[in-house]
Amino acid sequence: MRAAGVSFPEVLQTRGEYQMKPPLPFVPGSEVAGVVRSAPPDSGLAEGDRVAAFCGLGGFAEVAVAPAFLTFRLPDALDFAEGAGLILNYHTAYFALVLRGRLTSGETVLVHGAAGGVGTASLQVAKGLGARTVAVVSTDEKAQVARAAGADEIVRSDGPWKDDVRALGGADVVIDPVGGDRFLDSLRALREGGRVVVVGFTGGSIPEVKVNRLLLNNTEVIGAGWGGYVMPKPEVNREIGAAVDGLVERGFARPVVVARLPFADAAAALQLIDERRATGKVVLDVDGGGAGGLRS
Ligand SMILES: NC(=O)c1ccc[n+]([C@@H]2O[C@H](COP(=O)([O-])OP(=O)(O)OC[C@H]3O[C@@H](n4cnc5c(N)ncnc54)[C@H](OP(=O)(O)O)[C@@H]3O)[C@@H](O)[C@H]2O)c1
Repeated sequence: MRAAGVSFPEVLQTRGEYQMKPPLPFVPGSEVAGVVRSAPPDSGLAEGDRVAAFCGLGGFAEVAVAPAFLTFRLPDALDFAEGAGLILNYHTAYFALVLRGRLTSGETVLVHGAAGGVGTASLQVAKGLGARTVAVVSTDEKAQVARAAGADEIVRSDGPWKDDVRALGGADVVIDPVGGDRFLDSLRALREGGRVVVVGFTGGSIPEVKVNRLLLNNTEVIGAGWGGYVMPKPEVNREIGAAVDGLVERGFARPVVVARLPFADAAAALQLIDERRATGKVVLDVDGGGAGGLRS
């Protein structure tokens, strides 16, 4: 292990509020980057390969185990910290935009929580797929992060963002990892035939929809649960992995690692996310790449 990604689901897990509730005690950490110690002969991987992997649990550790079908050779362009931010967010973004949201080139994508992990990945993937992107953020600092991740337009969640988006022509696809009270305005910001893709609920509450709104404007609300969908489908994982690799190679996808903390500060890393202070991807340097980290 060289680096471990820290994500919102881990914050929820530490509170027992995530859909998957592992028996206590457990080691959190769903995604990692490092060097292969051993791999099954038919995996296409060998000892010494640089990889990014999704292990689900147990990633905040010096050695981790992941299924072969969720272990991907790390593109040369990415370092280990970036690799630790690749799978959960970028596979989710691609899954939500393409497999669920049916995004086509030239459409407009609105991304909530756009400076966050899923948000920055969604902006980059959408740009790589030829979309126009609109980011919704809560602060000026987050606006800068979203702009750097590829936002063509920025609107502020504390302003009249729905009207701003309509003035920009409306959205074909909304990627929503936030939920809460902005959901209704997401529906109102859609163009005819538009899709709101439900990705998460960082806002804290799960919205409800009056379905007459969908009928009146010919719109859709679509759920996107990456893990539940792809886990039993190794071939889909490989397809998404190949598509994400292509986006990395073409320079569109590069995890925005904003905070690198030493392994010993895993709790502080979770707090950064919990207190809404994180932007981009938060990563733990397991091999001591960050100040004060552990070295094996
Ligand atoms: N469906 C799936 O398959 C899937 C996969 C991965 C993650 N997820 C979910 O996606 C969500 C986002 O994950 P992430 O890793 O991108 O999180 P993140 O990096 O912490 O970003 C979340 C963003 O949500 C916004 N937000 C709004 N209200 C918030 C609040 N009360 N507390 C914290 N953030 C708030 C923040 O942006 P502003 O401050 O700009 O509003 C923040 O940047 C999580 O719910 C996670 O569980 C789902």
